[in-house]
Amino acid sequence: MVAGLKKMGWVMNEVGRLYSPVPNLQRQAREDIRVDDVVIPAGTNVWIDVVSMHHDGALWGDDVNEFRPERFKDDQLYGGCNHKMGFLPFGFGGRLCIGKNLATLEYKIVLTLILTRFSFSLSKLLPFSLHHAIPQAFSRAASNISTS
Ligand code: HEM
Repeated sequence: MVAGLKKMGWVMNEVGRLYSPVPNLQRQAREDIRVDDVVIPAGTNVWIDVVSMHHDGALWGDDVNEFRPERFKDDQLYGGCNHKMGFLPFGFGGRLCIGKNLATLEYKIVLTLILTRFSFSLSKLLPFSLHHAIPQAFSRAASNISTS
């Protein structure tokens, strides 16, 4: 039943896109790799900037900074991102997060329990746009959401 909560899945994806808990991934080139005109020599450590990719208008379009879970409605895997490696909240390939399914299940169960017990509204005191305050959003939003 929890697996059927599709919209919750879209919301989790959108939160993972805009507020990625894991901001970057690391890989080491095991051999020389050519990417277009650039050669990455064997042994080079590469940092993949997940936060930047998730906020890149060239990949996501003009609404890149908007919180819009519906972008995952018709494209549950990539959210309409125009590059198949552009959305990596749980990493990719052989080192993909092994806790992905567990985390998703836990998130849906916990959110369901919270939503059935509380109602939420944005405080009129909310002093800033969430879209432009990525790192601070979690702590500050928490103190500006009133529950009843
Ligand atoms: C929202 C929750 C979580 C997020 C966003 C997350 C994200 C990630 C990311 C980005 C990686 C790195 C993948 C890579 O380098 O390509 C990773 C690896 C890993 N995650 Fe998670 N994770 C989450 C929850 C969990 C949970 C609940 C567990 C265990 C119960 C877990 C266990 C692991 C392990 C063991 C690895 C290392 C896999 C490997 O290197 O082979 N994660 N996770």
